[in-house]
Amino acid sequence: MPIDPLFRFYQPSDRAACLDLFDANRPRFFAPNERTDYEAFLETAPGIYEVCLVDEGVAGAFGVYPENGGGFRLRWILLSPRVQRQGVGSAVMNHAVHRVRSHGGGTLFIGASNLSAPFFARFGARVQAAILHGWGLGMHRVDMTLHVD
Ligand SMILES: CC(C)(COP(=O)(O)OP(=O)(O)OC[C@H]1O[C@@H](n2cnc3c(N)ncnc32)[C@H](O)[C@@H]1OP(=O)(O)O)[C@@H](O)C(=O)NCCC(=O)NCCS
Repeated sequence: MPIDPLFRFYQPSDRAACLDLFDANRPRFFAPNERTDYEAFLETAPGIYEVCLVDEGVAGAFGVYPENGGGFRLRWILLSPRVQRQGVGSAVMNHAVHRVRSHGGGTLFIGASNLSAPFFARFGARVQAAILHGWGLGMHRVDMTLHVD
């Protein structure tokens, strides 16, 4: 039975929970050097970034941001390892697609990694470019796009 998360916008009080999500996913999914980027990102997160709640606790986070030049970008999607592979990521992707659609549709840009690209491909995202070690040593960057009508 897949987990059905709730969603709400990020608040500054979620910062510690989000950094815990990040720490729980490194070094497997994120390069160590990315933590300072995420910390800086969270400073600007209120209002657009979202968290997903499972059993009333923060179990994941992600955001759909307008992209310079048009379209949208899915940023910093990360889930607690305790809920991974139980349908929460799929619920997040459906929610993200809904967000893009509610703004009239368009291209959703995704900066994936070699580990997460197969997940996004399941939702129709296509690889546009790949950069070896693009996120850090051993973590390859895979740029993908998902068209939303
Ligand atoms: C990538 C991530 C968001 C996927 O979320 P999830 O809740 O585990 O995904 P779901 O359970 O909804 O999986 C849906 C399907 O995709 C598959 N899948 C999930 N993650 C996958 C991956 N990394 N590679 C290949 N398939 C994957 C699942 O097996 C499932 O398949 P099924 O329907 O045949 O059972 C989550 O694992 C995560 O947060 N990973 C760590 C952080 C990360 O890598 N974020 C992306 C940064 S670019």
